[in-house]
Amino acid sequence: MRARILVTRQIFPEVVAALRERFDVEHNDDDRLWPAEELSRRLADKHGVLATVMDRIDEAMLANAPQLKVVSNIAVGTNNVDIAACTTRGIRVTNTPVVLNETTADLAFALILASARRIAEGDAMVRRGDWKVAFAMQSPLGTDVHHATLGIIGMGRIGQAIARRALGFDMKIVYSNRNRLPEADEAKLGGATWMAMADLLRTADFVLPMLPYSPAVHHLIGAKEIALMKPTAILINPARGGIVDDTALVEALRANRIAGAGLDVFEGEPQVNPGYFDLANVVLTPHIGSATRATRLAMCETAVANLTAALEGRRPPNLVNLELQ
Ligand code: DGY
Repeated sequence: MRARILVTRQIFPEVVAALRERFDVEHNDDDRLWPAEELSRRLADKHGVLATVMDRIDEAMLANAPQLKVVSNIAVGTNNVDIAACTTRGIRVTNTPVVLNETTADLAFALILASARRIAEGDAMVRRGDWKVAFAMQSPLGTDVHHATLGIIGMGRIGQAIARRALGFDMKIVYSNRNRLPEADEAKLGGATWMAMADLLRTADFVLPMLPYSPAVHHLIGAKEIALMKPTAILINPARGGIVDDTALVEALRANRIAGAGLDVFEGEPQVNPGYFDLANVVLTPHIGSATRATRLAMCETAVANLTAALEGRRPPNLVNLELQ
């Protein structure tokens, strides 16, 4: 019997074609985000699912899908999946790390540059026909990225990829992480300095939380943390919505308590706190950290390899619930 697979969003045709050679595939051709009830109904008779970070897969859904063997997330993050419930039921959960590191680091750097140099604001000004005085000496002025201090909270693979880019801008790197990196790795990052998060917030010109989301880091950056940042500092979030308290950030940006922000992710996305919309000192992008063709294709292929291994009884290359082997 061929295994039945659900693909919750529209993915690349060549990946669907390859899947169809081995499995019976139900593919979301419309790319409409299925509400929970519909997702649960479609999942009920499946053996495997290729899911995205927008698909919340919870205990009730698993209980309704007794044949499910693998949840293969097309993402490095897995906070959309109840991993403990999957483990209890013997369902393997997998992700797509590594293949998106460099692309996500590029986007993080794009947000750093765009917010520091007011790129989106300048673009809008030119398009509106509001560029009246050529080469006005003091407007619009931005912030230097070169030689500034980059503060990374959570120095994992993507954090380190961002730090490597910062070396080309002669930036000083400070980081906070549960564990300090080996000295040799710090040296490779220009002598990156490990410090407590509160010290990093006080020190850095650019603050980037680069952690996976979990309830433990919900609103890790809120009003209290923003108050520690320098008034000239810029907050960048390429990681996950919910790590930054959007309400507190809107308030801080409105009061110019910090210089700006660059955000790719939002709590409750694709809904975005409307308070951001009339602020010039924030750059907003629609969760595009990994969004290049090459990287999204690599993520899909990695997810398929994970799913196939799990359904063939092999250990998936990127198993998240390691207890299951
Ligand atoms: C991830 O991989 O977790 C990203 O946020 C989705 O592109």
